[in-house]
Amino acid sequence: MAGAATQELGTRCPPALLTAVRAATRSGAGWRQTAALVAAALARHLPSPDVLTAAERAGDPASYTQHILHTEDSGSFSVVAVVWRPGQATPIHDHVTWCVVGVVAGNEHEELYGLAGGPAGEHLVRIAVRDNGTGSVSGFAPPGDIHRVRNTGAETAISIHIYGADISRLGSSVRRRYDLPVLAAARPQRRRPASTLTRRALSLRRVR
Ligand SMILES: [Fe+2]
Repeated sequence: MAGAATQELGTRCPPALLTAVRAATRSGAGWRQTAALVAAALARHLPSPDVLTAAERAGDPASYTQHILHTEDSGSFSVVAVVWRPGQATPIHDHVTWCVVGVVAGNEHEELYGLAGGPAGEHLVRIAVRDNGTGSVSGFAPPGDIHRVRNTGAETAISIHIYGADISRLGSSVRRRYDLPVLAAARPQRRRPASTLTRRALSLRRVR
């Protein structure tokens, strides 16, 4: 995630989830297939919000916050909890590696963008929106992963993110922040909830 305050608190990831993610990431598959395998692992072992302390679950009025729950010694993946108060949002960004997200509280509204050029210069086109409710799990991999996430609900949202990188070393999974105009395009698709679309979401993102 981009621009979030980061708090390194060591390994606090549930053991069953760690075991499943290790198996998925050691498969030797490419990024997209690895994201699908990790998404399946997270769906089977989605933690409760209690993986964070009450103070952490309350969030921060200044910004959404991220808490590193685990970084694998090899640097092959990291598990991060993100807390969003109502209205808090990321910048538009993409990522350096595959990413899997499971929502454990509240609702996260996601906007997906395409990068375009031409006479108007480099700009973004919003190509899809979707709402990821509690219990939904989705995964994706670059390229074609430009998005913005916002808590549009009335309650604090919490999500578990698994990245294919050492976030304690990188500080963030963000490859680029896109401070570009968003120009009109065809009406964005409203996608079905990610809970039913883990693999479908991967295939949808592949075409961008
Ligand atoms: Fe992101």
